[in-house]
Amino acid sequence: MKSITSLSAAAALLSGTADAFWRMPCQGRIALERLDPIVDPNVASSHAHAIHGGSNFGESTTYDNLRESDCTSCQFKDDKSAYWTPSMHFVHEGGKTEIVPQIGGMLAYYLLLGDDLKAFPEGFEMLAGDSRKRNFTGSVPDKPLAEWGPEDTTQVSLMEKSLGFNCLNYAKTPEGSRYRHSMPTKEYIDDNCANGIRAEIMFPSCWNGKDVTTKDHKSHMAYPSEIDGGTCPEGFDTRLPSLFYETIWNTNAFNGKPGQFVWSNGDPTGNGYHGDFMNGWNIDTLQSAVNDCTDPSGRVEDCVHFIDSLNSEDEMQNQCKIQDLPKILSDDNCAGPANGLCGDVPVQYGPGYAAPLTAGAGGGEPTAVPSLSSLVVPTQSYAPARSEVNGISVYDAPTSAAAPATSAAAPSYAAESAAAAPAVTAAAEVKHASKQDADGSIISTTTYTSAGTVYEVAIKEIAVTVTIEDDSYKARHRRHAHLHRRDREHGLLGRH
Ligand SMILES: *[C@@H]1O[C@H](CO)[C@@H](O)[C@H](O)[C@H]1NC(C)=O
Repeated sequence: MKSITSLSAAAALLSGTADAFWRMPCQGRIALERLDPIVDPNVASSHAHAIHGGSNFGESTTYDNLRESDCTSCQFKDDKSAYWTPSMHFVHEGGKTEIVPQIGGMLAYYLLLGDDLKAFPEGFEMLAGDSRKRNFTGSVPDKPLAEWGPEDTTQVSLMEKSLGFNCLNYAKTPEGSRYRHSMPTKEYIDDNCANGIRAEIMFPSCWNGKDVTTKDHKSHMAYPSEIDGGTCPEGFDTRLPSLFYETIWNTNAFNGKPGQFVWSNGDPTGNGYHGDFMNGWNIDTLQSAVNDCTDPSGRVEDCVHFIDSLNSEDEMQNQCKIQDLPKILSDDNCAGPANGLCGDVPVQYGPGYAAPLTAGAGGGEPTAVPSLSSLVVPTQSYAPARSEVNGISVYDAPTSAAAPATSAAAPSYAAESAAAAPAVTAAAEVKHASKQDADGSIISTTTYTSAGTVYEVAIKEIAVTVTIEDDSYKARHRRHAHLHRRDREHGLLGRH
């Protein structure tokens, strides 16, 4: 029985059939603040979030508030939904913290998986993940799907596997999405993830058909048996779009610097990463899009319901910010540099369940973060993606029977990317410049789409040296100049 399942899954991949999807780029953050109207309504949230979407967002936002937003930082002007996740921070040795630069905002995939899909209803909200979680209980790496037993399909197990921390290195075949479910160590990131970490989270998509939210903001929803595909548990028979968030953090800005990465909720493991969604769609529009936006490219430009109302990159990136920042947050400085994490959040390593954080605390100077310790979960080594589903490259743990067939089908992204890369003009690059750091790190990024793929282009700083005589310094800058040339020749650093 199991081998039949795995063979038909492989056949589906080989024949190229995939369910429809679109991805909503949200290239600008409307705020980096301690706000979470789902989990901590009416007060300052316990920890910071990177918030994207509708501008009328605050500590007590409702569906009606979001619909009244002046703008959205996402591409379709009438998607006033709010999308938020924890932000990534770097804790320097000694305890000073600063935000890790975010690249390209966020992508929200709407995967149209399952039958008879319904739009998110009015007032719908949900939370995925568990902020207090600090361990991963499954096997590392994942077992092949065909070998999943009951212990692999509990809701907690599906939830912990819904997270991904993709080690981005555009010089290599990409890792599959959700291949690593825990953060790699700082050392591994420095050595391997030249283009940063892409945080990923798949939301549950099986709905109980009646509650738009619940007390824990989760129990009205459940994961299907394979996280994205598979069957819904009893009582959760209504299929909603499967939301999948991708957010890229430029960890490379801290390459070689002593310290560690930690999420804003005090989580260095990644197992407490989470995502929030608050519906801000016009329901009829979303239902039409769910029915009709089935172009295999996944581009919003290719959907008749979106095409006439799209934000430009400048509108997304620079022109839409939170309308009213609550007064209680005016002393916060979540980006830093600061003395610890905003909201005075302690770093909790686990592996036990972390102590709850306090919401409603009034900003102020947070206390220093305690000294570093090493993570419990071993860092997985690199493994290339083996196939692509709905525009998302996936790892597909090899099965003993189907391994040769699936590895033969693994696409070569490097070749495809080089062939498909359109010329990117210097003017376009300059337009999106956002200076981040000296010393050869990425200073500007932009995205473009070609043949159904969103590409991230990152432009490295041009090093200028002549007068300094120190040999090691010159050698370093020559290296940067070389890197710069190489990036420009390819015109492309990878796919997003
Ligand atoms: C793993 O986390 C869970 C809570 O998510 C906790 O109950 C369990 O004790 C933890 N395991 C270990 C070994 O600490």
